[in-house]
Amino acid sequence: MRQTRKKVVLVVIPIAFLIALSILAARSGPPSAEASPVENEKDKPKAAAKEKADKEEKDKTALAEFMHAKLDASTEILEGLLLEDEKKIIKGAEKMREMSQAEKWRISNDMMYRHHSEDFRRNVDKLITSAKGNSIDRAALNWFDVTLSCIDCHRWVRRVLIAEADDPIQP
Ligand code: HEC
Repeated sequence: MRQTRKKVVLVVIPIAFLIALSILAARSGPPSAEASPVENEKDKPKAAAKEKADKEEKDKTALAEFMHAKLDASTEILEGLLLEDEKKIIKGAEKMREMSQAEKWRISNDMMYRHHSEDFRRNVDKLITSAKGNSIDRAALNWFDVTLSCIDCHRWVRRVLIAEADDPIQP
């Protein structure tokens, strides 16, 4: 009798040990495929934060792409000036003017931002007028003013909007 009990214990202990081990392994192992982060209650806020960060990243990329299009328009204007091709200058300048009125351009409602935008548009308008009047020299001077307004606004955005706000995209 004693012998069989000993045998049972000898068999049961390793089995119990193995079961305990496999439970532990299942717990600490990687989450199963069904337990996606969103379905897991605990991870919900994390998933929402990630979604928000992703959206901000996307908005930022879209804004950067939009702003980079200004560079393309600038190149077109510069090319027009070098080739004395008024049509090219006008095309680039009108593209720029259109962009400055788009929704994406208005990242801030601040008075200074509006002032910089108006200054920029005024200089672009002068450039268009000069190009339309076939005055390349004047257009070249207007182009400097446009470039200066790019630089002025950027300096202001960097100093004020980005320095003061956590999120410069929000006005
Ligand atoms: C009225 C303000 C204003 C003017 C004028 C302006 N910009 Fe911008 N620009 C911005 C803002 C705001 C951003 C976005 C800054 C940020 O990343 O938060 C930006 C971003 C850019 C970027 C993208 C930088 C990046 O993050 O990759 C380029 C390129 C650029 N501008 C070119 C120009 C050029 C060229 C001109 C002139 C022809 C110009 N900008 C005029 C406000 C302005």
